Amino acid sequence: MAEKSFKYVILGGGVAAGYAAREFAKQGVQPGELAIISKEAVAPYERPALSKAYLFPTGTARLPGFHTCVGSGGERLLPEWYTEKGIELLLNTEIVKADVPSKTLVSAAGETIKYEILIIATGSTVLRLTDFGVEGADAKNIFYLREIDDADKLVEAIKAKPNGKAVIVGGGYIGLELSAALKINNIEVTMVYPEPWCMPRLFTAGIAAFYEVYYSNKGINIIKGTVASGFTSDSNGEVKEVKLKDGRVLEADIVVVGVGGRPLTALFKGQVDEEKGGIKTDGFFKTSVPDVYAVGDVATFPMKIYNEIRRVEHVDHARKSAEQAVKAIMSTENIEEYDYLPYFYSRAFDLSWQFYGDNVGETVLFGNDDPKAENPKFGTYWIKDGKIIGAFLEGGSPDENKAIAKVARVQPPVESLDSLSTEGIAFACKI
Ligand code: FDA
Ligand code: NAD
Repeated sequence: MAEKSFKYVILGGGVAAGYAAREFAKQGVQPGELAIISKEAVAPYERPALSKAYLFPTGTARLPGFHTCVGSGGERLLPEWYTEKGIELLLNTEIVKADVPSKTLVSAAGETIKYEILIIATGSTVLRLTDFGVEGADAKNIFYLREIDDADKLVEAIKAKPNGKAVIVGGGYIGLELSAALKINNIEVTMVYPEPWCMPRLFTAGIAAFYEVYYSNKGINIIKGTVASGFTSDSNGEVKEVKLKDGRVLEADIVVVGVGGRPLTALFKGQVDEEKGGIKTDGFFKTSVPDVYAVGDVATFPMKIYNEIRRVEHVDHARKSAEQAVKAIMSTENIEEYDYLPYFYSRAFDLSWQFYGDNVGETVLFGNDDPKAENPKFGTYWIKDGKIIGAFLEGGSPDENKAIAKVARVQPPVESLDSLSTEGIAFACKI
């Protein structure tokens, strides 16, 4: 079998890979030195589009429209860009074995790829209901969403089931964004999740109440406090019903499952140090093994601002960690240690929120959180040890969003929670 050899290899062709490639080019990588290996068939793209405009009936996003790095307002790197730079894109290539001591990767087709320096950017995969042994969970038209192929299958199903019924399993990011996308496609939507409110790993009960009422007003049926315990299918093997643990049964033509992700670290088990479910790195994304770096969803890195090591499954960190690793590899100048301020966001219907910082401590809700308001604008501050350490804002202007980012970074002291609630976003804007 063929053997290829590169100075730099990025394993994974997602968001981090695209931003790393751009940084390699900036730092003067030479033609033939860099390869990106991806099991996907397309050059790196902005994954967040898959749960948003990719699924819209109008104004639909399609490649090449959302290749990296357009998501952060940067240059769109088309496949030709990689060719021009002499960066090899090894697409449709799944690596099934990594031997770190010999710096060798082996593909499913048996090809060997050698590297001098490796960046692991394999991202996450979805948790599947079949992994938990849920009865009937392998029926047709039960979908997960991670890659463009998954999105294409879902788009086909939406077209095949006009005015159909969908059940969305999970009340996190995928649950909330996909419920909206399917509803916009005239599908009747029911969401099911086990917790007392949606997006519990970030939202407070107060924040969630706004979205739950807003979604209900859009005609989305929400069932909380239970899980999908089984599925029945018709004679074609297509899903027909979702059985809930509380005994209820829901009809369904389409099911979308978003019950969380898992970082893809298995190829490196026992070869690099791991922590908190990811590959342990320093503030330059170096792993425990020389010449091996890990970025994006798979990296567990020092979050300097909180003096803690953490893993982050969001696009802003994928972009920034990739750039940091490449600078650390290529730059002749001194690089500052990564100093990341967590930034998460989501968009659905006409809504758009941003969050910066840490969501621990006491909370203060402010603003107009009436789901029926024409332009609702509300937020929440998180306060710990007398200082604001996190801020959430729905419906903010670009300047207001910048202001909440600054508040979370500066961590100003707070004297009275009552006056903070009254002042609301104005407090952030004056920092
Ligand atoms: P990413 O998953 O982007 O890329 C990993 C790549 O590695 C994939 O191409 C994969 O095929 C490849 N790969 C894995 N194993 C391989 C192997 N063995 N061989 C070859 N290739 C392999 N975040 C956010 O902040 N805002 C948002 O709105 C969204 N929206 C969103 C929507 C959807 C549908 C998803 C799935 C995720 C988001 N996210 C998000 C999260 C964000 O997209 C995610 O954190 C980044 O894509 C992570 O970037 P990585 O490059 O680490 O992994
Ligand atoms: P998530 O962790 O956001 O949410 C999972 C949800 O499923 C939680 O509410 C959880 O309690 C619930 N759940 C768990 N088991 C369940 C069960 N058996 N039945 C019903 N519900 C169950 O994960 P996700 O929404 O699947 O997202 C997957 C990945 O994609 C994450 O990495 C996420 O960060 C990323 N993503 C991010 C965005 C964004 O940042 N805007 C958008 C889409 C996806």
